Amino acid sequence: MSESLKAATIWFTGLPSSGKSTLAVLLENELKKRGRTVEVLDGDVVRTNLSKGLGFSKEDRDTNIKRIGFVCHLLSRNGTFAVSAAISPYKEIRDDVRDMIGDFVEIFVDCPLDECIKRDVKGLYKKAIAGEIQGFTGISDPYEPPTDAELIVKTGEEEPQESLRKILARLEELGYLAKNGVAETSEAEMASA
Ligand code: ADX
Repeated sequence: MSESLKAATIWFTGLPSSGKSTLAVLLENELKKRGRTVEVLDGDVVRTNLSKGLGFSKEDRDTNIKRIGFVCHLLSRNGTFAVSAAISPYKEIRDDVRDMIGDFVEIFVDCPLDECIKRDVKGLYKKAIAGEIQGFTGISDPYEPPTDAELIVKTGEEEPQESLRKILARLEELGYLAKNGVAETSEAEMASA
C-alpha cells in the first residue's frame, strides 16, 4: 500500500518555457494513477495567491521560493508529493530548501535557451529581448543551473513522455515509488479490478 512509502518534494528548476509545468502535470497524473496524493505548486499559479504582490528582484524571488519550499515541506512530510514548478534561478536558496525538506528530489529541466526562446510559451522572451521587460530570466537576469540535481531531463531533445519515464524511474530508484507501481495499487483499485 502507498502508506508504506515516503513521499518527497519534487523540485523542477529551469528557464522559462523549458517544460517545468508540462512535466509537473504529467507527473501529477501518473502519481495519482499510482494511488498517491499530490499537489502541484506552479510558479505562475503561486504568484497569483501565496506570493501575490512579489516581483522578480532577487529578494522577491528568494521569498517566493522560500514560501513554496515551506508549503512543499508541510505536504511531503505528511505523505503527499509536492511538485514545485518555479524557475527558482538561485542555487543557494534551492539548497536551503533542500536542507529544510530532506526528502527533496531536484530535477533540472535542461532546455537550451535558443529552444526556450523559440517556444516562448507566453510571449515574454520576445518582450524581454525587445527591452519591454527588465530582469527576465535567461535574457537579462541570471539562471544558476544545479550542480547536484538528482536528475537532469533534456527537454530540448526528448519528448515529455520520455522525460516522465526517467523521472518515474529515478523516483523508484530513490525508494519513493514502488517498481512498476505494483505496491501502490490502492485497495479500492484492487477491489474494483
Ligand atoms: S521565480 O524566479 O520566482 O522562481 P516563478 O517561477 O515564480 O519565478 O515565475 C516565473 C513566471 O513569471 C514565468 O513563467 C513568467 O510567466 C513570469 N515572469 C514575469 N516576469 C518575469 C521575469 N522578469 N523573469 C522570469 N519570469 C517572469
